Amino acid sequence: MNDVFTLLRSHRSIRKFTDEAVDDDTVAAIVACGTSAATSSNLQATTVIRVRDRDTRAEIARIAGGQQHIVDCPVFLVWCADVRRPGTAAALAGATLVSGMTEQFIIATVDVALAAQNAVVAAESLGLGICYIGAIRNDPQPVSELLDLPEHVYPVFGLCIGHPAQDPDVKPRLPIEVVLKEERYSDDSDEFAIKNYDETMRDYYRTRTGGTKNSCWSDEMAGLVGSERRAHMRRFLADRGFEMR
Ligand SMILES: Cc1cc2nc3c(=O)[nH]c(=O)nc-3n(C[C@H](O)[C@H](O)[C@H](O)COP(=O)(O)O)c2cc1C
Repeated sequence: MNDVFTLLRSHRSIRKFTDEAVDDDTVAAIVACGTSAATSSNLQATTVIRVRDRDTRAEIARIAGGQQHIVDCPVFLVWCADVRRPGTAAALAGATLVSGMTEQFIIATVDVALAAQNAVVAAESLGLGICYIGAIRNDPQPVSELLDLPEHVYPVFGLCIGHPAQDPDVKPRLPIEVVLKEERYSDDSDEFAIKNYDETMRDYYRTRTGGTKNSCWSDEMAGLVGSERRAHMRRFLADRGFEMR
């Protein structure tokens, strides 16, 4: 349709990077594209921490299950949901931050996701590769301590950025008919579509892994939503001042 569509449809996560640096001005410009994203009520609840220190990265990589690209990528950013800063502004206007509202948690988390994805598109438009790192939430408390995060700020995910040293295939997505519904929710055709998609994904994994990974989308989802994962998040968020009410 146009170059933006082509760019968006060619996204794939990159987990191997060359040693080529990404200069600081480029990183700042990429993050500025992030902050240009729409933000709920102009809350601007995003703080981005660039981690250069190798020891800090190594510790985050360990927490993230040994993801070496966190150490090796030229740029590693941690995207944080930050209600503290709007709280500081509110205090300047004589109000006190009301702690722990679910709505604040949603707003701040959505803000971060929108900003990060804008930054991702900006980075990819420059030919850079990216990989989100949700696995920092395997153990978010030490990550927060490493980054000196105060109350009302929590690390949502990390982001590796750099010049790609691999060229993986684009990962197929569910057909648009499954995602885009008309007027009302209906999952009448979902099972059929998922079974077809499972075969597509089985082929994709086989090709990508040289036959070693024999899995499909349903198998992956069984592991993800079919078991308790990161059950510590509720307690962690409560301790950060994001408890739900
Ligand atoms: C919020 C978020 C967290 C993610 N966390 C990780 C991660 O910790 N490690 C990783 O290798 N990929 C991670 N990914 C990448 C996804 O696995 C990837 O986007 C998905 O499998 C689709 O593949 P694609 O990005 O190549 O299209 C994450 C993606 C998102 C959006």
